[in-house]
Amino acid sequence: MATDQDQEVSEAQIAVHWREEEYYYPPAKFIGQANANDPAIFERFREEDFPECFKEYADLLTWDQYWKTTLDTSNPPFWKWFVGGRLNASVNCVDRHLATSRNKAALIWVPEPESEETQAITYQELYKRINEFAALLRGFGDVGIGDRVTFHLPMVPELPVSMLACARLGVIHNEVFGGFSGAACGGRIADSGSRILITMDGYYRNGELIDHKAKADEAVAAAKEQGFEVDKVLVWRRHPGQYSSKTPMVAGRDFFVDELMHEYAGRLVDPVSMPAEAPLFLMYTSGTTGRPKGCVHSTGGYLAYVTGTAKYYQDIHPEDTYWCAADIGWITGHSYIVYGPLSLGTSSVMYEGVPLYPDAGRMWRIAERLGVSIFHTAPTTIRLLRKFGPDEPKKYDYHFKHMTTVGEPIEPEVWRWYHEVVGKREAVIVDTWWQTENGGFLGSTLPALQPMKPGSCGPGVLGIYPVIYDEERKLVEVGSGRAGNICIRNPWPGIFQTIWGQDERFVETYYAKYCRDKESKDWRDWPYLAGDGAVQAADGYIRILGRIDDVINVAGHRLGTKELESAALTVDEIAEAAAVPVVDELRGRAVEMYIALKPGLKPSKELEEKVIKAIEKEIGKIARPKNVWIVTDMPKTRSGKIMRRVIAAISNFTDIGDVTTLANPEIVDSIRHQVQTEKAARGEVPRELTPQEVEEMKRFGQAE
Ligand code: WTA
Repeated sequence: MATDQDQEVSEAQIAVHWREEEYYYPPAKFIGQANANDPAIFERFREEDFPECFKEYADLLTWDQYWKTTLDTSNPPFWKWFVGGRLNASVNCVDRHLATSRNKAALIWVPEPESEETQAITYQELYKRINEFAALLRGFGDVGIGDRVTFHLPMVPELPVSMLACARLGVIHNEVFGGFSGAACGGRIADSGSRILITMDGYYRNGELIDHKAKADEAVAAAKEQGFEVDKVLVWRRHPGQYSSKTPMVAGRDFFVDELMHEYAGRLVDPVSMPAEAPLFLMYTSGTTGRPKGCVHSTGGYLAYVTGTAKYYQDIHPEDTYWCAADIGWITGHSYIVYGPLSLGTSSVMYEGVPLYPDAGRMWRIAERLGVSIFHTAPTTIRLLRKFGPDEPKKYDYHFKHMTTVGEPIEPEVWRWYHEVVGKREAVIVDTWWQTENGGFLGSTLPALQPMKPGSCGPGVLGIYPVIYDEERKLVEVGSGRAGNICIRNPWPGIFQTIWGQDERFVETYYAKYCRDKESKDWRDWPYLAGDGAVQAADGYIRILGRIDDVINVAGHRLGTKELESAALTVDEIAEAAAVPVVDELRGRAVEMYIALKPGLKPSKELEEKVIKAIEKEIGKIARPKNVWIVTDMPKTRSGKIMRRVIAAISNFTDIGDVTTLANPEIVDSIRHQVQTEKAARGEVPRELTPQEVEEMKRFGQAE
């Protein structure tokens, strides 16, 4: 064991010779109109002015009662921002814009079928819908301040309406990505203690009207298995008045929202003035154990942070037409489709469907038709659009001033296509690095003031002071070329408050490793561990190397290996399971499962299929493994730990390293032969990995 560890630490310390990419500068036209184009802004956010610098973000909001203390550090690391302040998030996103922009589009919703009309929902209309639904939730749902309500909603306007209706009441919303399975949703209902589930009967995806309500029944059943009873399932209908699901409605439990709504039509609800530090929502994410982590986001700090970063980093002006093509079921959508853009009073576009439906020109037709000026998506989508329609953008007369990328490292080559072809060399790009836990951006470039560098997100954003430490808690010098664990030295308003119901795990996961003094009330002693490997160049720009824990980032979605493995283990015949990432041309990473069967059983296609089905059932189709390898045994350390690093190397055709310390080194060659021969036969030999990717595979599974 010790030898393994020593070897891994020294690997991490070897200086890697990264090729530095050249800078790209923003067009003069962009600089002229940018929200942040005066370098004095860097002065205002100097470390000496922390935490007061964040007053600038908080002042973008409308407060019912102004706060007294900017940052309360009395109970580290449970930071409290803008203490004493009171506000309501739905008022900030909607009501406050009515005086000037009542009939301007707040949301522009594009249904997937091109035969269906795009809907522009004005601020006034949004205000009405939020109020009516809030009245229904309070009256019929009987929920109030601090109660949790889980949503399992697709990309329809009913989702932001439901979120903002909860926010109006002080109810904590908990949206589960629509693509997750009913079982995954049920686990989150039980963990959050939600008596109400809000869902939709169906939605369009890839030309098909998906039966989504079926998942609600599975979710309620899964929650019940965990000892939690759901009282009511509120079902929005994709086509009101017409039920698009085959699943029967359960009498006394399931209700159509459009039917209940008759009683609440036109009703107004006074917004509840919430303390700044009251939770606004939960967002679950994968972690190192099977139990998912419900990240608790605050009202005042979170809203101030997303509003400030959306204004300065995405350069959102109220006159813009802004389109973030993420799903609201992820943190990106919460922060940068709903809360940030609406708080700034802009028009935010939502698209129901998939990027390539019905063809590779769809995204650009939407951009042209709506006059989108700011575009935001993930590297996975960019790779997909590039592969299936490299010349499509040229055919459409749209002009972006600004584009964002988020969620995964972007290959410089893909970045250049985004810049030249999608952005037509007219748009600036911000590569934004952050996480579900963070509320908003951590690393990026201020678009008018800092040049872009493909493959690097940029330095820490305003008021964020990053640092890289090695495994021995020593500082990794900027510009040394050495990789380490990226941390943020200071708290910031968007940081999550805790893991729902798991305070100890919160401290343990994010703060224990680099905390200098557990008794200290000084924030300087509590660096936040992000869980990513990174290198920082001499210019301060950060290159993210991917996760240091056992999370696999598939198409920008975080999947925990433990969740994948426990899903596989629900299959009776399986004795052991290990999940590893494999480099995938389109999705960044894909999952491969290695499986050992119980004694006496023979491998078969049926068993592989069973594993795939189990993963789809427990987590969802997004987690579907690329390959399932049934092997005779797993490579293990003498203490019995599965060496995921070794099987990841096999799957990726990279150097396996020293395996002489394993308990069963002979198995490695036999697995390698089995897997690599089969991959070669299937034409699945990957391209040569980049230095970053090699580093990532070496680190994989180390943090356990
Ligand atoms: C990765 C998404 C490189 C990273 C907002 C992080 C990135 C995880 C970038 C969080 C980026 C996110 N460059 N890697 N610009 N953005 N990541 O919680 O590994 O879904 O820890 O939040 O995605 O994923 P999450």
